[in-house]
Amino acid sequence: MEKPDDICPRSERVAKSPTAPHAPPIYLSSVYECRDPQQADALLGGREAGYVYARDGHPNADLLADKCLRLHGTERAAIAASGMGALALVVLSQLAGGDHVVVSNQLYGRTLSLLGDEAARLGITSTLVNACELDEVRRAIRPNTKLLVVETISNPLLRVADLPALAELAHASGAALLADNTLAGPVVCRPAQLGADWVMESLTKTMNGHSDVVLGLLCGAQARWQRVPAVLSTWGLAAAPFDCWLALRGLGTLGVRMDRACHSAQAVAEVLAAATTSVEAVHYPGLASHPDHTRAGRQFGERFGSIVTFTLSGGAAAADAFMAATAERIPFCPSLGELGTTLSHPQSTSHRGLTPEARAALGIGGGTIRLSVGIESTEAVIEAVEEGLAGLG
Ligand SMILES: Cc1ncc(COP(=O)(O)O)c(C=O)c1O
Repeated sequence: MEKPDDICPRSERVAKSPTAPHAPPIYLSSVYECRDPQQADALLGGREAGYVYARDGHPNADLLADKCLRLHGTERAAIAASGMGALALVVLSQLAGGDHVVVSNQLYGRTLSLLGDEAARLGITSTLVNACELDEVRRAIRPNTKLLVVETISNPLLRVADLPALAELAHASGAALLADNTLAGPVVCRPAQLGADWVMESLTKTMNGHSDVVLGLLCGAQARWQRVPAVLSTWGLAAAPFDCWLALRGLGTLGVRMDRACHSAQAVAEVLAAATTSVEAVHYPGLASHPDHTRAGRQFGERFGSIVTFTLSGGAAAADAFMAATAERIPFCPSLGELGTTLSHPQSTSHRGLTPEARAALGIGGGTIRLSVGIESTEAVIEAVEEGLAGLG
């Protein structure tokens, strides 16, 4: 009889079945068995398709990437361990010392750090611009500009830049356009169909939608993809199988979640816009008063996203009072795209790294609140917001 010491370490196989599982299995295996050295050589050399080592690729990342690739209509997609990992993947695979990038000044704070201080350490320079001002973007482009970076709905003031025009500007000088589509997601916007060469998303947010995963997506064309797989593996940016499995499951309901959330966001924006005594400004691309409303309609179709940003007249004290009054129903969570409605305070979270002057120039003050509208009933979200406004006294 075999010893337990010899039985236990042996890898077991699932019995073959004529039926297939309806839900995808989770392939946690870090390594795959090769038939012989010739097969290992063919797999590692890319002459045969298949898996060898999970940092290079695994079925759960591929299933998720395939779904995202179809959502965005691109030739290739890769999953990284975070949204920042997906951005690092572009920087490390496409840029080198001596290159220059033009960067929207309305980006997620860590993205600004990556393309500013961190890129500078690699010899990559950058110029910040208002991406909604095409002349400013044109003036910033240099002969060594390789990348133009913009968010399709900017954070937190929800500006919508002209993607086809930016793509044309970038391409005219041999640069590529990278669109961070995190706040919109593919239900609202498909940037590759509007001229973007690279689409990046934090899957951590609405795409997964259940607050239990940190993951990133990069989509692009085959012609630019050559260095991406090697950089993903060599810099250790790959995602774990279980996280990919969870995100694929979350994605299953993306359409219905976004339908509800976008509908409620529009209704909440209208309630806030009517509260003129306590609310100084409401930023929502679905409002006719939004500076980019017409462009958003052109680029997004009928949905304008699940995020609503507003500024209370009473500054930071008013924001504190609003949050205290509604804390039971709208938790303060410095992220977005959760199942339920949450809020964040850009001055003390995502934009805390900026000087007060820089924040003021962007229109972010102590009274600015970013609401991430969830899938509760529209009436419940409106009631919760009205409760917050009533708390202002
Ligand atoms: C617009 C935007 N881009 C990128 C990121 C980074 O994504 P992750 O947190 O998944 O690394 C975030 C995170 O908040 C974000 O809001």
